[in-house]
Amino acid sequence: MSLSLPVVKPSDITPYPNGWYVVAFSHQLRPGDVQPLKAFGRELVLFRDTDGVVHMADGHCPHFGAHLGHGGRVEGNCIRCPFHGWQFAAESGECVHIPNGDRPPKLARLRKWDVTEKCNMVLVWYHDRGAAPTWEVDQLPEFDEPGWSDWSTDEWVVKAKLQDLAENDADVAHSPAMHSLTNELPRASEPEIDGAIFSWNLKITPSLQQFGLPASLKVPSGVAISVTTRRYGLAFAWIRATLPLVSSLRYRAQTIACTLPIDEDSVYLRLAHRTRRTPFRPFTKQMLKFYHQQFHQTVDEDIPVWENKIYLDRPAASRSDAGVLRFRKWARQFYSNPVPEKRASGS
Ligand code: FES
Ligand SMILES: [Fe+2]
Repeated sequence: MSLSLPVVKPSDITPYPNGWYVVAFSHQLRPGDVQPLKAFGRELVLFRDTDGVVHMADGHCPHFGAHLGHGGRVEGNCIRCPFHGWQFAAESGECVHIPNGDRPPKLARLRKWDVTEKCNMVLVWYHDRGAAPTWEVDQLPEFDEPGWSDWSTDEWVVKAKLQDLAENDADVAHSPAMHSLTNELPRASEPEIDGAIFSWNLKITPSLQQFGLPASLKVPSGVAISVTTRRYGLAFAWIRATLPLVSSLRYRAQTIACTLPIDEDSVYLRLAHRTRRTPFRPFTKQMLKFYHQQFHQTVDEDIPVWENKIYLDRPAASRSDAGVLRFRKWARQFYSNPVPEKRASGS
């Protein structure tokens, strides 16, 4: 008897899709701060000049290769290398001063990256062929609304590909199977697609046992957590959650969820949460802590799957996988070599 086994081939999905990436949350980088960063398989330096403008450049100094992120300093609108003290203009990356009076050589220039800062995020554009940004990040809905708490941040390093993390929240079928938050399939709205933006809403019926309540207690029908996700490219999403409390009281929380590939095998996953302020400070604090913990637990539940799965271009998908297949079709625009139509999943 011969067995016909499926062929597992390397995927056409690459580790660094094109688009905007959150490299830091704004509140974590003050004027004068210099931070080393490893992303896209490269060594980088991130700094905020004294005028408050954020810059990112390749990390190694073109003089003798010292890392500007380890001991480099912001001096005015320049970054100063820790090794021989050469100063590079923050704006152009050009060497403008050598302490011993030598004339800066032409080759002494840092490679700068396209950076923009918006809605508490420091964003960097990545394109594997060096193309200029083809879309912009607009104002996040309700971001500037007054009455929100400070940010509460969380982060992980996950041994996985960015695509696997990105498509996870469109994959509703895994939620009741592996997340303790719910025992039921979330109800997903039709996605709204606008170029690089993919938005949809999920209604999730929470499992009360998750909160230590007896199994006999059921959530009243129609009561659900509403989660609206607005995803900008594959590397970050703006999530707005509304949780029912008692009677008509609602609890609102917001999250920036972002991923940044460190190298071909690992990704930073960062979350920043905030909650609607209430007149009672300890209650606001408690609710933020609770929301943060729920998110943290959900990610911890996902990680063993992400770290051990492979990406199948042609999954054996069933009816409830329609959302994730739709997501994959939209996601192809972020890869320089789109998967040919006949081999792509979801088509
Ligand atoms: S290595 Fe940077 S100034 Fe010499
Ligand atoms: Fe998940």
